[in-house]
Amino acid sequence: MSRIAYVNGRYVPHREARVHVEDRGYQFADAVYEVIGIVNGRFLDEEPHLDRLDSSLKELRIAWPIGRPALKLVLREVARRNHVSNGLVYFQVSRGVARRDFGFPKRTRPSLVVTARWTPPVSADPGAGVAVITVPDIRWKRVDIKTTGLLGGALGKQKAREQGAYEAWQVDDKGMVTEGTSSNAWIVTAAGELVTRPTGNEILAGITRQTVKKVAADLQLTVIERPFTVAEAQAAREAFMTSATSYVTPIVRIDGRPVSDGKPGDVARRLRAEYLRAVTAVEPFM
Ligand code: PDD
Repeated sequence: MSRIAYVNGRYVPHREARVHVEDRGYQFADAVYEVIGIVNGRFLDEEPHLDRLDSSLKELRIAWPIGRPALKLVLREVARRNHVSNGLVYFQVSRGVARRDFGFPKRTRPSLVVTARWTPPVSADPGAGVAVITVPDIRWKRVDIKTTGLLGGALGKQKAREQGAYEAWQVDDKGMVTEGTSSNAWIVTAAGELVTRPTGNEILAGITRQTVKKVAADLQLTVIERPFTVAEAQAAREAFMTSATSYVTPIVRIDGRPVSDGKPGDVARRLRAEYLRAVTAVEPFM
């Protein structure tokens, strides 16, 4: 089946989808993006993702390329044209095309690109869980803005892959875990409390993180927002990660050391099942 992408108002074959060489997203990572998970024909947490796109655009003073209702139609159309009932939509807005100059161009239309990708249907069962390694957090100081400037994370993820791990947890210069390269980081203490780093400039305020906080409250679980060290995570009862594409995924190994018995814990299992139940309780689009 041939894939279709949306580029600035047109639906085009994926292999022909392109933007100009002087797009500022390409030259300066002057662009923001979102990833929304799709499960059984439903967008997960669509409105919060669009709210976050709005804040990222505001931070960089980039205008919406099309209105919010129009964007929602395009997301659906791209998912439908690609027959993606399970997977994700990716959408990116750059400041647009202009002669290369660090300062903002005066009159430039923002570029909008949307793609969709299929993944196998998700299971509430997390399987065996995943391993993470830790790496120094070498990213810039505004990772709360969801820009396409992702090289720090890409280097971390590559190192994880080369070491047979699924994700890299990034660690700040005080030895505290910030977040994964493309996910938020959580632990469960011996007392059964959930711990995750507070939002701020040092992490992306994950939409999944936000929803999991609500789900945890519904399950009468306590969530404490504070930084934690790698050693605390290795000694924790459980560890897990959250993101639009990994949902809630248990972490069973950190830098080669098993977390508890090296199997997914009960809290992460329950949160994953409840999270998926909560976010799929919306109207399907296909
Ligand atoms: N990444 N932290 C970082 C650095 C991320 O890139 C992501 C998401 C998250 C989790 O945010 P959310 O729950 O809103 O997906 C945290 C997406 C999935 C990506 O870049 O592919």
